[in-house]
Amino acid sequence: YEGKAKRIFACENPDRVLIEFKNNATAFNAKKRSEIKGKGRLNCKISASLFELLELNGIPTHFIELHSETFMFADKVNVIPLEVVIRNIATGSLCRETPINQGEILNPPLLDLYYKDDQLGDPILTEERLKLLDILTDMQLEEVYKITRSVNKILKEYFESLDLLLVDFKLEFGTNTSGKLVVADEISPDNCRFWDKKISDPKERILDKDRFRQDLGGVLNAYEEILKRIEKDSSNAT
Ligand code: TMP
Ligand code: ASP
Repeated sequence: YEGKAKRIFACENPDRVLIEFKNNATAFNAKKRSEIKGKGRLNCKISASLFELLELNGIPTHFIELHSETFMFADKVNVIPLEVVIRNIATGSLCRETPINQGEILNPPLLDLYYKDDQLGDPILTEERLKLLDILTDMQLEEVYKITRSVNKILKEYFESLDLLLVDFKLEFGTNTSGKLVVADEISPDNCRFWDKKISDPKERILDKDRFRQDLGGVLNAYEEILKRIEKDSSNAT
């Protein structure tokens, strides 16, 4: 299977897949496209480190192990067509679609559900529409909420220690071949927003895909900075 930013290969072991992180960047439902050399490698490494951190904290994820610089082994999952966004600071679509001010702290964090369907433009869901779609059970939905809030707590504290604000991020979930619900997809500057805590300029502080979405330049440098801080942290720990 080939998606916008990743390619999925079958493995000999039917419970596993090999995921390749591509250099393609898209935004606004792939209306904007580009290739950013080196992005695949950075997102693969960043995702692997974050999935490892989550696993250490008891969060079930699809991650198994890195295969090489741009490939990782993961559980084969049936992806639930749901984009689960959690927001700590207001920006992006929340500020476009509501009168909430840019930069407002959201406490408790705001959880938004979207239907994952490019043709429909990933529309936001109400809880009743979600029930109607019948794409996951009530119990799975409870798990999704619980896991997303835990992931946010773990990642927010972790990035805080790297002098980064975790503004918001999007998770996807799937069920593996044992039927277990796991965090799938990736966790990288493609699907998270990071602001440098020590920079107040609203454009300069951006260290994620918003640099691409808003044509700010320096996309790869921003992703590199995220990996650099993660790696510096792990070398301190060992
Ligand atoms: P939003 O403010 O545009 O709704 O984005 C919220 C978060 O979700 C942000 O961290 C970027 C991420 N995101 C994706 O991963 N995929 C998408 O298609 C969109 C629109 C947002
Ligand atoms: N990932 C989405 C796309 O490619 C949108 C985004 O991340 O802004 O269209």
